[in-house]
Amino acid sequence: MPTLFIRTYGCQQNVADSERIRGLLEECGCISTDDENTADIVLFNTCAVREHAEDRVFGNVGQLKANKAERPEMMILLGGCMVHQVSVQTKIKKSYPYVDILFNTNELASIPSLILRRLKTDKRVLDAECAEYTLNEELPVKRDGLACRAYIPIMYGCNNFCTYCIVPYVRGRERSRSPEAIEKEFRDCVAAGYKDIMLLGQNVNSYGVGLEGDMDFPKLLKRFNDVEGDFTIRFMSSHPKNATRELFDTIAECKKVSRHIHLPVQSGSNRVLKAMNRHYTVEEYLSLIDYARSVIPGVYFTSDIIVGFPGETEAEYEETVDLIRKADFYSIFSFIYSKRTGTVAADMEDETPHRVKAERLNRLNEIQREVTDRLDAEMVGREQRGLCIGNLGDNKSEIRLDNNAEVTVDGTLEVNTYCDMIVTGSINKRLYGKVIEK
Ligand code: 5AD
Ligand code: SF4
Repeated sequence: MPTLFIRTYGCQQNVADSERIRGLLEECGCISTDDENTADIVLFNTCAVREHAEDRVFGNVGQLKANKAERPEMMILLGGCMVHQVSVQTKIKKSYPYVDILFNTNELASIPSLILRRLKTDKRVLDAECAEYTLNEELPVKRDGLACRAYIPIMYGCNNFCTYCIVPYVRGRERSRSPEAIEKEFRDCVAAGYKDIMLLGQNVNSYGVGLEGDMDFPKLLKRFNDVEGDFTIRFMSSHPKNATRELFDTIAECKKVSRHIHLPVQSGSNRVLKAMNRHYTVEEYLSLIDYARSVIPGVYFTSDIIVGFPGETEAEYEETVDLIRKADFYSIFSFIYSKRTGTVAADMEDETPHRVKAERLNRLNEIQREVTDRLDAEMVGREQRGLCIGNLGDNKSEIRLDNNAEVTVDGTLEVNTYCDMIVTGSINKRLYGKVIEK
């Protein structure tokens, strides 16, 4: 029985893909291992969203050279977003002769046959082109996340072509899974005891386009909210241009949908937003989250921000700082713009030195820290329900709140069960709390 090691880079979508790859290969007889150095099959599921992610992959692939020299029979597979770029394929072909297989994420079911081809022909299998952009349907899933969280892809691909982003080029056009297929997986997760179920897509708000019948994301949320059981539904990611008032009205109605919404804004400057091809203004964004706050009391927003987009001036950056002060995000994921070959922004003039961009990022994060600290302080003393997601040793447990914040409490609680608790304060940016016995 060959042993299998999978390393996943990037977003939850990639984690979900890896869970399908693992399910499939275990069904073919592989045994999972977490020892990269002795595994018969080493598979990297890569990310292309920023240059840094790609550099890390190349570094890690380089480290496999010695393993392959020692055990030539081992097999190295690379797939995921990075591998869908012709420039990467060329580099692997030329400079990484010990990589055996490049596979395409849009066609996961083909992986076992690629492995067989490699074994039979003794030739490297480097055609990562896919014949068909599939929905990766009917693959077994071996969930490797936390005991409580399950990821369910509801759609694949992206049609938005934000000018900085490589995703539409590597993941292809938007396509939605059928509500029946998703519902079956959803019910299986509930039955298996998952309490925190996350629906995934590059832009879940355009779920249902192209499907027969009258289906959209709010309807999908309602359908799953009606499934019996005690669990929380989350989703990632939403594009503000397609986030409607109806979506927020639906969340308000659906008690099992988390009061935490990740709504990437990217910039606080209307000029930059236009250059990014985002199709909304700062004013429209703010009025959207205002509306959400009016119908969903206590809702928390988190966001993604890019600093140093080509041509971003100091004044435009300051507009992003302003937005961060105004929007009251619970947290942000902030990034320095990374040039992605093939995208529209890659051809834009970009004169701001990296040092300046790094300073902008640091300052932004400091300001966000102040906002987070204030929101954390407001949480203190408020009674709420949380899910135990792990034991930390030392008689402490980790609790996830509905707003996705993690809190440390005393006691060894049963993982994947809910408890009532209050946040008591924070030390060194960590939240602490106390369980209330009822
Ligand atoms: N450079 C920097 N950040 C990027 N993102 C996507 N593409 C790039 C890029 N080229 C960020 C966006 C997105 C998140 C997943 O990654 O903020 O929302
Ligand atoms: Fe996920 Fe985008 Fe990275 Fe692909 S490129 S793994 S879709 S973040």
